[in-house]
Amino acid sequence: MVREIVHIQAGQCGNSIGNDFWGVVSEEHGINPNGIFHGNDLQNENLGVYYNEAASGRYVPRAILVDLEPSCLDNIRGSTYGELFRPDNFIYGNTGAGNNWAKGFFTEGREIVDLIMDSVRREAEGADSLQGFQIAHSLGGGTGSGLGTLLMARIREEYPDRIIMSFSVFPSENLSDTVVEPYNSILSMHRLIQDADEVVVIDNEALYNICSKSLKLTKPTFGDLNHLVSCVMSNVTSGFRFPGQLNSDLRKLAVNLVPFPRLHFFLTSLAPLWSTKSASYNPLTVADLTREMMDAKNFMSACDNRDGRYLTAAAIFRGTVSAMEVDEQMSLLKKNKVFQFADWIPNNFKSSVCNEPPTGMKISSTMIANHTCVEQPFERILRKFKLMFGRKAFLHWYSAEGMDELEFIEADDNVYDLISEYQQYGYPYYEDDGMSFEDFDDDICEFSYYCE
Ligand code: GTP
Ligand code: MG
Repeated sequence: MVREIVHIQAGQCGNSIGNDFWGVVSEEHGINPNGIFHGNDLQNENLGVYYNEAASGRYVPRAILVDLEPSCLDNIRGSTYGELFRPDNFIYGNTGAGNNWAKGFFTEGREIVDLIMDSVRREAEGADSLQGFQIAHSLGGGTGSGLGTLLMARIREEYPDRIIMSFSVFPSENLSDTVVEPYNSILSMHRLIQDADEVVVIDNEALYNICSKSLKLTKPTFGDLNHLVSCVMSNVTSGFRFPGQLNSDLRKLAVNLVPFPRLHFFLTSLAPLWSTKSASYNPLTVADLTREMMDAKNFMSACDNRDGRYLTAAAIFRGTVSAMEVDEQMSLLKKNKVFQFADWIPNNFKSSVCNEPPTGMKISSTMIANHTCVEQPFERILRKFKLMFGRKAFLHWYSAEGMDELEFIEADDNVYDLISEYQQYGYPYYEDDGMSFEDFDDDICEFSYYCE
């Protein structure tokens, strides 16, 4: 039986990556921009996870498109796949959130949140066996971050037993267009820790580095970055969309990857990643894909996996790959001890093969990992947050929307605690020495300015 997912995309970034995601997924399932299916049985089998079949016979994404200003949604309407979406599911305001999380969460966002929840309810009620929700948004602006996390809180309240997953874009200085991104991001992270079940961390810093260093693009644009994001989103969700055993729905993915409720932030990687020029010169075997996928250069978060360890991970190979070769590579990974795995979680690295390759490729692989180094982007952004918050700079924009300073303090503490928790599990298990984690808590506090 097919179990449905409701997709929501909020703000400029959420809508851009969401639009690309639907383009890629529709192509992979043989759905043309008018919603007409022309694919094979494999493409058809799990179509209901992401699409409703309308009375007219066309397939309609179970997607809700949200923004606090109309321009981005107008662009989507005019794009190749614009006609695919249900027109009632475009919901927008006219004011914008002006890069202010408080406007998205407290003021402007509240004016349209009920309207959005009506659509969410309609889509959820139309599902036979809803598995959960997925939200695409950025953390740096006002709408995707503020309204995105407000929606998450409302969904959590109304559907406490369904899974909420997000694709959350972390900001990078290289692409920044506003100084208050650290504020918006930390306030959002605070909410993601409490309201999301799984968060796929998509870090613009890493995407920018991949585009400029691996793909050798002289001036990467958001279009280039979003192409990578759509590949990751497509691969991560391929287990839900095509038949298979491992991580075949949102809940199974969460159960396999999340050992503790707060530690639900996933590092992802993509292979192969080559510049168009060098692509035809490179060999491509399961061993190559495995090596590349484990290389920090291919991570979608700016993290170094030589620090810390893998708590859990799943590798997804797509295309015609031998399951035996995959198993071999996976056991070599563990045997060679190049990477550190949490030895107190046996069998924590799983792999699966999805026979349907991504469009335009023969084979590819993606890793979804719960690695303790995923705290590094949090740490990078929290440092900037602390610098500004220490001087109370820009706070008046938030208090003007009725926001209390306490919210900033709580967010700061919560994100700091999360970083410490990840760091704690990044160390070997010391139980045999008679030590508990608390005993060496102070030693691992790398955040020197916190350890006053
Ligand atoms: P407001 O415009 O403030 O109402 O909120 P918004 O949610 O529309 O803002 P936006 O999504 O533009 O958020 C800004 C953050 O997202 C910045 O960190 C940008 O670098 C990033 N961003 C914006 N558009 C894109 C995009 O298309 N792709 C990627 N990867 N990042 C984006
Ligand atoms: Mg915007």
